[in-house]
Amino acid sequence: MENKIDVAVLGLGGMGGTHVGAAKASPYVRNIYGYEPDPARAALRGKELGVNATSDLDSILNNPEVKFVSIASTNNSHAELTEKSLRAGKAVLCEKPMGETLGEAKRMIEVEKATGGFLQIGFELHYSKLYMMVKDWIDQGLIGTPVNCHCRYYASEFHCKNTWRSLSKGTLIGEKLSHYLDLQRWWMGSPVEEVFSMSAPSVVDYYNHPDNHQISLRFKNGAISNLNFVVYIGETDHTDPLLEMLEKQADDGHYLQYHIFGTKGAIETDVFRRRIRRWEFSDSPKQLVSKIVEKITFPKEEDQVWFHNTHGQNVRIAELVAKGMRPENPASDAYETMVTGFAAEQSERERRIVRISEFQQ
Ligand SMILES: NC(=O)c1ccc[n+]([C@@H]2O[C@H](COP(=O)([O-])OP(=O)(O)OC[C@H]3O[C@@H](n4cnc5c(N)ncnc54)[C@H](O)[C@@H]3O)[C@@H](O)[C@H]2O)c1
Repeated sequence: MENKIDVAVLGLGGMGGTHVGAAKASPYVRNIYGYEPDPARAALRGKELGVNATSDLDSILNNPEVKFVSIASTNNSHAELTEKSLRAGKAVLCEKPMGETLGEAKRMIEVEKATGGFLQIGFELHYSKLYMMVKDWIDQGLIGTPVNCHCRYYASEFHCKNTWRSLSKGTLIGEKLSHYLDLQRWWMGSPVEEVFSMSAPSVVDYYNHPDNHQISLRFKNGAISNLNFVVYIGETDHTDPLLEMLEKQADDGHYLQYHIFGTKGAIETDVFRRRIRRWEFSDSPKQLVSKIVEKITFPKEEDQVWFHNTHGQNVRIAELVAKGMRPENPASDAYETMVTGFAAEQSERERRIVRISEFQQ
C-alpha cells in the first residue's frame, strides 16, 4: 500500500495497548511509536507492546513521518497532549473525556479550529454494531419518531481504591457516562436543550466524586431521555465487567440496557444478554397493539464488534488519516456531549434545571 503513515500512541496503559493493537492491524500503518512520560515505564510498556517507546514527546511531535497521534493517557493530560499534537500538525484521536473541565474541552475545540487539524474523540460506540443497528433502525423509520429513551446502567465497583480514576477530580459522567449520553444525542437527532440531574449520597466512600447519577435530558424536538447509573450493585468482579464474564453478570446485578421508544415502535439493547430487540406498534379497533418483531443475539466471540469497538474505530481512523479525509464524528459533536455532561454536573451542584444555552453565551 502506498499511502502508509507512521502512528504514535501517547499513554501506554490498558487502553494504549488496544490502540497499539489496532495500529498493528491497520494496513495503512508503517511504524508505531509510543510515549510515556516516565522513561522506565516507557521502556517497560514499549517492550511489552512491541513498539518503539520514548519519554521524549518532542521526538514524536518533530517527526514528520508521524501523521497520526492517538491519545490514551489519563484524562488530566488529554487537553494538553491534544493541543501540542494538533499544533505539531498531527491528526489526533483522543480518548474521551475531552479533558476534566469544560475549559479544557473548549480549548481542544478552539485549537482544532485554529489549526484546521483533524480531531476525533474516542466515542467508539459509534462503531459498535449494537448501537449502529439502533441508529439504522431509527433512520429507517422503523420506530417512527423517537420520543423517549431510557438507559439503565448498574455495574460493580470497577475503579478501585487509590487509582487515578477514583481520585480524579473529573466525574464518572465524563469518564464513563459520556459514552451513554452521546448515544442518546446521536439517536434522538435533536439538540439537547435542558438537563436535570440528581445524585444521591455516595456508597463508595473512597471516590472523589459521586458514584451514582440520574440524568434527564429534554431535546429541542420535545423528546426526553433518562440515564440511571449506580456503581455498586453488580457482584464484584476483578476485571472489566464489560469485557469478561458477561454470562455470569447477566443475572448478578449488572444491567446495561437501553429502551428507545418511538411513535411506531421501540428498541431494546441489552449488553449482558448480548441481545437487541425491536417492537412494532400498530392500530386495532380495540387498542394500540405492540408486538416484538425482531430479536438478534450474538456469540461472545463477536463482543468486540458489537460493544466497545475501539479496535474498529482506530483502524478506520488510521485509514481516514492516510487518505487525507476528515473525521467521521466531528469533535464539535463530541463537545456537545461533553457540555451535556458538564450541565448535568452543574445541575447536581445547583439543584436546578440547566439550559444548554447557558454554555453558549
Ligand atoms: N473509550 C473507552 O471505552 C475507554 C475505555 C477505557 C479507557 N478509556 C480512556 O483511555 C484513557 C486511558 O485509560 P486506561 O484504562 O488505559 O488507563 P491506564 O491507567 O491503564 O493507563 C493510562 C496511562 O497513561 C499514562 N500517562 C499518565 N500521564 C501521562 C501523560 N501526561 N502523557 C502520556 N501518558 C501518561 C500512565 O502512565 C498510564 O500508562 C483514559 O482517558 C480513559 O478514559 C476509554
